[in-house]
Amino acid sequence: MKILIATEKPFAAAAIDGMRSIVESAGCELALLEKYTDKAQLCAAVADADGLIVRSDKVTAEVVAHAPKLKVVVRAGAGYDNIDLAACSAQNIVAMNTPGQNSNAVAELALGLMIYMARNNFNPGTGAELKGKTLGIQAYGNVGRLVARLAQGFGMNVLAFDPFVPAEKMVAEGVTPVDALAELYKRSDYVSLHIPANDQTRKSVNYSLMSLMPKGACLVNTARKEVIDEADLATVLAERPDFKYVADVAPDSFADLREQFGTRVFATPKKMGAETAEANVNAGLAAAHQAVGYLNDGVDRFRVN
Ligand code: 3PG
Repeated sequence: MKILIATEKPFAAAAIDGMRSIVESAGCELALLEKYTDKAQLCAAVADADGLIVRSDKVTAEVVAHAPKLKVVVRAGAGYDNIDLAACSAQNIVAMNTPGQNSNAVAELALGLMIYMARNNFNPGTGAELKGKTLGIQAYGNVGRLVARLAQGFGMNVLAFDPFVPAEKMVAEGVTPVDALAELYKRSDYVSLHIPANDQTRKSVNYSLMSLMPKGACLVNTARKEVIDEADLATVLAERPDFKYVADVAPDSFADLREQFGTRVFATPKKMGAETAEANVNAGLAAAHQAVGYLNDGVDRFRVN
């Protein structure tokens, strides 16, 4: 059986070595397509693949249609908004993610971005400390929990909103649960987003939430650009000279926002939350284990379709 690793943004070499060894010792063959620039290359490469491992690469209906032998797609990472689940299901292809494997890298970046904004983008002048400030975490999943723990280390007061997580779990971890999203925004100097992009969340971070944040507030987005209502973001930034936005996923309107609002808006040039050797190894090896586990033994843990 052939497993294709197709990554427009490649894994670290150490991750590839480990993935190759897992795949080959399970009796499978590994194929590698890295830094491709055209969807046609991916469509050609999946033609004889039984398994596919990707990162944020788009596995569209067109890609799936070019993969008659494909049985499993593993997204080495958390968010699977890049996979057309309906197209996979229609062709009896199992789709999986690797939850938690790259979370620490994303959480560390969230704190790094907060410090960068608190210290005026590392320009000369008086900045501020995180200590004593309130951080609101929107979605207390794998990344949100780690952000909470790191922020507590900085002496921040941490709140969280997550209707899917019991309040007692947050309390046990020193986090204050809030039961309304508006309250989270109202009380937090920083709000850190850890929601997936889906039909419920797209453009859900809008004017009515952002405008509730207190004076000097900063919105931190290491999740997905799609969850922000960009027109509303521009309005809040225009109305509030104290408001800041920092993202690992540049808004489509980033160039305009930067021109209008300068260093109050910052985005990494390319999504880099999970771009550490450790996260690549953790997520890549997990993905390889899951792909061979499904192909050889039918194990479908972390199936998302
Ligand atoms: C994820 O959903 O796991 C992160 O956004 C990482 O994405 P990446 O693999 O493209 O860096």
